[in-house]
Amino acid sequence: MVSRHPVLVLSICIVLEPALGIFTLATPQSLAPYLPTPQPVVERMLELAQVTAQDVVYDLGCGDGRIVITAAKKYGAHAVGVDIDPERIRESAAKAKAAGVEKLVTFMLQDARKVDLSPATVVTLYLLSSANAALRPILTGQLKPGARIVSHAFDMGDWQPLKTEHVASDGGFSRTLYLWIADGKVRP
Ligand SMILES: C[S@@+](CC[C@H](N)C(=O)[O-])C[C@H]1O[C@@H](n2cnc3c(N)ncnc32)[C@H](O)[C@@H]1O
Repeated sequence: MVSRHPVLVLSICIVLEPALGIFTLATPQSLAPYLPTPQPVVERMLELAQVTAQDVVYDLGCGDGRIVITAAKKYGAHAVGVDIDPERIRESAAKAKAAGVEKLVTFMLQDARKVDLSPATVVTLYLLSSANAALRPILTGQLKPGARIVSHAFDMGDWQPLKTEHVASDGGFSRTLYLWIADGKVRP
């Protein structure tokens, strides 16, 4: 039961990875292993960002594309998923097609640190603290003032979130969500 807690699972991956060499953290490009956000938490992340059809939503490390697909299907937003794992990108594209939103979404096989984020009005993250720290200067350097960033489970160090929320999720565990709004100040 305890081992299903998302932050614990991600932490266990980090601890075991050097010994077992089986997780995606084994590659220098990897910011986090694959672990999907439960759908009710996806819905709340998009509500927290106040996504509308006018938004362009980027999910950095998109996994199976669920955040991107939900943004397109529920809100009519344009959405972009970025992942370094080709299997995840294939899965995302197939699921977007099945959901009938392929015209609204784009999936990119790319390192999240190399993506041009200037078109994004919303960025979602479910990575790790170290990944958020690596992305922080990129996000704050590229996003236009007013763009919203929502992170599942991990904060951004000393950049205080505008809102922190606890969402009841699977197995009675609570997930923490963080919201920031870009203000034009670059944060290294
Ligand atoms: C914890 S999962 C989150 C999946 C999805 N965003 C969600 O919330 O359901 C992290 C994802 O980030 C991807 N990833 C790891 N390092 C990455 C990198 N450098 N660039 C892009 N994606 C990366 C992994 O392949 C994995 O699919």
